[in-house]
Amino acid sequence: MIEALSGEGSFVCLRISTGREVKSLMPFFKVENLAISFGGLRALNDISFEIAQGEIYAIIGPNGAGKTTLFNCINGIYRPDRGKVWFKGEPVLGKKPDRVARMGIARTFQNIELFNNMNTMDNIMLGRHLYLKTGLFHGAFMWGRRSFAGKEEIRHRRKVEEIIDLLDLHAVRDKFVGGLPYGTQKVIELGRALALEPELLLLDEPCAGMNSEEKQDMIFWIKDIQDELGVTILLIEHDMNMVMDISDRILAINFGSPITEGTPEDVRKHPDVLKAYLGEEEDIGYAA
Ligand SMILES: Nc1ncnc2c1ncn2[C@@H]1O[C@H](COP(=O)(O)OP(=O)(O)O)[C@@H](O)[C@H]1O
Ligand SMILES: [Mg+2]
Repeated sequence: MIEALSGEGSFVCLRISTGREVKSLMPFFKVENLAISFGGLRALNDISFEIAQGEIYAIIGPNGAGKTTLFNCINGIYRPDRGKVWFKGEPVLGKKPDRVARMGIARTFQNIELFNNMNTMDNIMLGRHLYLKTGLFHGAFMWGRRSFAGKEEIRHRRKVEEIIDLLDLHAVRDKFVGGLPYGTQKVIELGRALALEPELLLLDEPCAGMNSEEKQDMIFWIKDIQDELGVTILLIEHDMNMVMDISDRILAINFGSPITEGTPEDVRKHPDVLKAYLGEEEDIGYAA
């Protein structure tokens, strides 16, 4: 008989009446046999993987491999033809994007989606919309700092300040994001996703279009989010070198299908991965 449920790493422990603890088959995050087609094009075909709590798990693949489509399936933008997705034992598919976000799954987009004519603080504040009971920005202003709405807004702003601290965004806190460097905008987008206080963060090519210094910074922030906040990270990336440093495990896909899964070293050397990237050598910087 089951007595208690308690989280442990990527598994949920079931304590049975004998007093022995048994690990159930309930990983932190699991994708099973996911498939979706657009017209005749099979964009994802039989994609399965599991992520343990606290891991940085990367999915790599050439352009058009199906990486963004996978995120769109997970967070409810697309409805897959087949497959299942579980987060902490709860089914994810069939929910709308805001419901998926409420489960604790946040995401960033491949192309920056910020409000250019709003400042950094307010852009990150937008990430807290799920928590706001009163309208954005109107709390303290409309009803006074001591009203419920005012207190609520102050609490949210405090959370946003913590994120600004964590990501070292003080210098640009009150600046319009439209005029900021590309790399800084990507960090602000990361901050906005963190404002949701997610347990799982989906990052779609967070280093795309960055120079090498900006890339190093972004890698540092991603590591920090894992270490300091304990957030589990699912990262999709085209640039293989970027994921080598930070990923615990990698799944390589091409034409919507899995090629191999393993440690960064294993995946990097895999002949089918090399073949998939053939012709893109400049992008991934292979020496041989
Ligand atoms: N809404 C859509 N309608 C039609 N085709 C799509 C749609 N979304 C993605 N695709 C196709 O699915 C394939 C995978 O795209 P995508 O997931 O964006 O690749 P990646 O992110 O790995 O570069 C591409 O061939 C793309 O054109
Ligand atoms: Mg993409």
